[in-house]
Amino acid sequence: TPNFFSTQNSVQAAADVREAAMKNPGFGSVFSSNMASARYTAADGWHDGKIVPYAPLTIPPSALVFHYAQEIFEGLKVYSREDGGISLFRPDANARRFVKSAERLAMAPLPEEVFLESVEKLALIDKDWIPKERGSSLYLRPVMFASQSVLGVKPSTEYSYYVLACPVGNYFKDGDSGISLWVSENYSRAGIGGTGEAKCGGNYAASLAAQAEAQRQGCDQVVFLDSREKTWVEELGGMNIFFVFKDGSIQTPPLGGTILPGVTRDSVLKLAAKLGIEAREELYSIEQWEADAKSGKLVEAFACGTAAVITSIRHVKRANSEFTIGSGKAGDTTLKLKNALLDIQSGKAEDPFGWVKRL
Ligand code: COI
Repeated sequence: TPNFFSTQNSVQAAADVREAAMKNPGFGSVFSSNMASARYTAADGWHDGKIVPYAPLTIPPSALVFHYAQEIFEGLKVYSREDGGISLFRPDANARRFVKSAERLAMAPLPEEVFLESVEKLALIDKDWIPKERGSSLYLRPVMFASQSVLGVKPSTEYSYYVLACPVGNYFKDGDSGISLWVSENYSRAGIGGTGEAKCGGNYAASLAAQAEAQRQGCDQVVFLDSREKTWVEELGGMNIFFVFKDGSIQTPPLGGTILPGVTRDSVLKLAAKLGIEAREELYSIEQWEADAKSGKLVEAFACGTAAVITSIRHVKRANSEFTIGSGKAGDTTLKLKNALLDIQSGKAEDPFGWVKRL
């Protein structure tokens, strides 16, 4: 349905207003002129698709989302290309994951083609909001929530869907010099059979007390261990993790239902194969990580996600010990993967994977 979203009510910001808003956008506090919106009811299915001016919503306090947190979201980026065009990176992967997340939260899945049309149309209408500097982009945030007004604990019969757009730079303010992690022992992010692999707001809500603890410890991000054995490294508060060894190989924890299946994580695995870097999905314990970092067997580590792209990890702090990784600076393999990824995303390098969707 290429005409699901009407555009007749979209608006354009004056150039000076837009340019002022786009100066040093940081991450996620500046929004473009428009947003996509659609509604679902059990009687009519998905309908009322439109691109409209970005504006506050009116929602009854009784809406199910406020009580039982039936909410999912996505994150993907629009890039301004070196040839002057614009593109999305693997939007089909986000569309698919959005369906899976909806199924896990017992929500009405948004058809993938409707998701794709929403992000493509918003990207095109707000293309003047795409920053041009390398590493900057227009971050799209699709979000869906239960809007039925009722307090019974059951799946909503009504949903609202929106896509917001934010011009963004680095997720971490000082990300280029690497981030530090705090290993959470008091908190878990997800348990077996839980919602860990769904991209739902609840997972992020559950991470916040641990993230606050990390910040009190002077660290940038929390890293979670598995909830049962408190042994295996799983992921950070808002991104996946990779380890780089002295023999040149890389490793990331396997997806076992408790880890968010990141699009960047998957891209790094495929990119590594293409670059001749051996890549494994294997469990890695916090004890082994500390031992390997101290012995020099492990030389780099990095966080990856749509927002974080690839960000080097320089230091790890635990309750009773801490360790620095490699030289404490971004390593060669991290930078090689980061640049290869950015080159494909920005159109500087050819895309052998069919990931880039030009608009
Ligand atoms: C993303 O990487 O896009 C996310 O959704 C995670 C969040 C830290 C912004």
